[in-house]
Amino acid sequence: MRLIVATRLLTQLSFVLFPSVLSVLGAPNSGVGRRATVCNGHAELCDKSYGSVVSVGSHDSYAIAAGSSNVTTQLDDGIRMLQMQAHNENGVIKLCHTACVIFDGGTLQDYLTEVKSWLDANPNEVLSLLIVNSDSVPVSTYDEVFKSVGLDTMGFIPPSLPLPALSWPTLGSMIDSGKRLVTFMDHEADGSVPYIIDEFTNIWETAFNVVDPTFDCNVNRTNTQVETASQMYLINHFLDKIILGNPAPDIEKLNVTNAATGPGSLGAQVETCVAQNSKPPNFLLVDFYEFGQGSVFQVAADLNGVQYTPTKPIATPVQGGASTSSSAQTSSRPLDNGDNPVLNFSWESILSLMSVVTAVLAGPQFLL
Ligand SMILES: *[C@@H]1O[C@H](CO)[C@@H](O)[C@H](O)[C@H]1NC(C)=O
Ligand SMILES: *[C@@H]1O[C@H](CO)[C@@H](O)[C@H](O)[C@H]1NC(C)=O
Ligand SMILES: *[C@@H]1O[C@H](CO)[C@@H](O)[C@H](O)[C@H]1NC(C)=O
Ligand SMILES: *[C@@H]1O[C@H](CO)[C@@H](O)[C@H](O)[C@H]1NC(C)=O
Repeated sequence: MRLIVATRLLTQLSFVLFPSVLSVLGAPNSGVGRRATVCNGHAELCDKSYGSVVSVGSHDSYAIAAGSSNVTTQLDDGIRMLQMQAHNENGVIKLCHTACVIFDGGTLQDYLTEVKSWLDANPNEVLSLLIVNSDSVPVSTYDEVFKSVGLDTMGFIPPSLPLPALSWPTLGSMIDSGKRLVTFMDHEADGSVPYIIDEFTNIWETAFNVVDPTFDCNVNRTNTQVETASQMYLINHFLDKIILGNPAPDIEKLNVTNAATGPGSLGAQVETCVAQNSKPPNFLLVDFYEFGQGSVFQVAADLNGVQYTPTKPIATPVQGGASTSSSAQTSSRPLDNGDNPVLNFSWESILSLMSVVTAVLAGPQFLL
């Protein structure tokens, strides 16, 4: 006991005296009395509530074929929320775009295996998942997948629900406890799997599939029973344009959309939000974060009051990666009213037509 106290004292003293030494030593250690000294890359974030830290999120994070880096690269680059659309494909949860026949991003299990490896290799990081449960699969089925990859034991369980933004624990305490994966789900999260947390009682969102680059900061989706001022909030900062009647990413404008400043930029929407809500958004959900060469992470770092000092350049955008899915048959997602005509053409023929149409098929934002 005395040893533990002495160790803690030494740790605290050393932190004052030798922060850079400790940031090296502060890595893997699950021992009693562990105190994270660097959290999500910065000592300053350890004492901040999860509910007041700003993270960059990757919209449709598994959509590698649509031009995104793999999940490991995304996390290495600084993405701290992974958003995904999950579908039930013959009893297996898959991450697909719109429907698995259009874009099959693989199984949730494979995806989470990669996430688990990354979390194991990066013990001082808190990560959030946002699962769009498109086919209303029961949370117990998700629980089985999380258990199979060993992520259930890393899942943060809120002490009460809803948890107001500022009642969330600090990143440091989450890292110390090992409960550093925060999983939100848009619906079906009924509390029966306590680490799968209902999104809209805890987070409100701005509009998605926005086609107006002015990006307002109004509440679009939330649980109306909860006071939005106390919630965390997420901005859907990805610009779409309408192609063949459906929203698709406005790829030509990505550099502008992801920029830190200027009309239509992420920075501009954040300014609107801060003016309107007196606090920044918690989650900045973007498409193709690679565009802007780190600008999206710069915006988050500024809001968090830390320096953005990437150790390596941000991954190069990999537009056109969709060409690997050569013979896939495609169809449009019927809209909710069911009267959208079904399109049917080969992937390759579309690719040869134009890259914008490729984006419609491989990387559309039909659904959040
Ligand atoms: C992710 O992509 C990077 C860069 O292309 C590659 O080096 C790495 O092997 C990939 N990792 C996985 C797990 O696929
Ligand atoms: C939410 O945003 C969508 C556009 O993405 C819009 O059609 C809808 O009317 C908005 N709903 C509310 C309640 O603001
Ligand atoms: C975005 O900026 C990068 C680097 O400045 C440039 O190489 C790329 O072509 C630009 N992309 C678009 C779509 O403007
Ligand atoms: C789509 O095309 C394939 C062959 O290219 C055909 O087998 C299939 O029936 C078509 N589906 C529809 C809905 O037309």
